[in-house]
Amino acid sequence: METHTLSNSSAKLIHNNKEQSISQLPIPDTLESFKTFGVVLFRGFGVDYQQMKNFAEKFSSRFVLDKDRPIVDPRNKYVTLVDPGMHYVSPHCENANSPFRPDVIWFCCGVPAAQGGETLYWDGIRVWQELSEELRQLFISKKIKFLQKFPAADWKRFLGVGATVADVKRTLNGIPGLTYNINEDQSISIEYVCSAVVKTKYGNQDAFANSLIAEYKNPRGVVTFADGSAIPSTVINQIQQVMNNLTEVIPWQAGDLVMIDNSRFLHGRRSFTDKNRRIYSLLSYLK
Ligand SMILES: [Fe+2]
Repeated sequence: METHTLSNSSAKLIHNNKEQSISQLPIPDTLESFKTFGVVLFRGFGVDYQQMKNFAEKFSSRFVLDKDRPIVDPRNKYVTLVDPGMHYVSPHCENANSPFRPDVIWFCCGVPAAQGGETLYWDGIRVWQELSEELRQLFISKKIKFLQKFPAADWKRFLGVGATVADVKRTLNGIPGLTYNINEDQSISIEYVCSAVVKTKYGNQDAFANSLIAEYKNPRGVVTFADGSAIPSTVINQIQQVMNNLTEVIPWQAGDLVMIDNSRFLHGRRSFTDKNRRIYSLLSYLK
């Protein structure tokens, strides 16, 4: 096994040059790389989605299901395809518009797009360091608020078939920053107030790791300051400018596996037109 950093990248590349299987990698070393670098790319191991799941299980206490993504295989209900469509996906942390942000997002590549479709990522620590003093003061002094509405079918998928309104209350009661309302049609409206700057899980560093840009750009998303006032577009543009200079790229090859620290890194993707592109994902909490 050979490890080095990708050129011009903050990710750690673990390259298989011994015809090893991914299951033979030493877990403690791998975990150490993950904690240090936050993005680890395993190349040359020919990982398929079943192997991704098996490998992820060694690190994870539990998996989370994403409500929007197609499940790949009914026996393997946590492995999903990535966001549907072929459009550009703006930077976000997974589920960071809610209190259910997983620790790790796993991706593996079945078929890369012939052109485009690269996964993009940004180190939230660097984004925070590069923001102007004025913006940093703004996000230190003001929290942000995400509004979301989940039809009953969505929360049943998230909580499990057979989940009831009582389960919803049990899950949502007492979460800091969260208020919710159960509507007449059993849909749930939630308001989640949080800081745009968070402490990373490993290293306790400040990171601008959130879903602000993606929700701002999403026509269905609603994000404001905590008091309900609008976030000025000039603020969004300034953040975007800083991030444009910090964009990093995963140039997919078939069989690649990536693990991303969702408490520190934002991710997105380039658009593509190739219908054959297959990237699988998995969300988990670490042990
Ligand atoms: Fe995502």
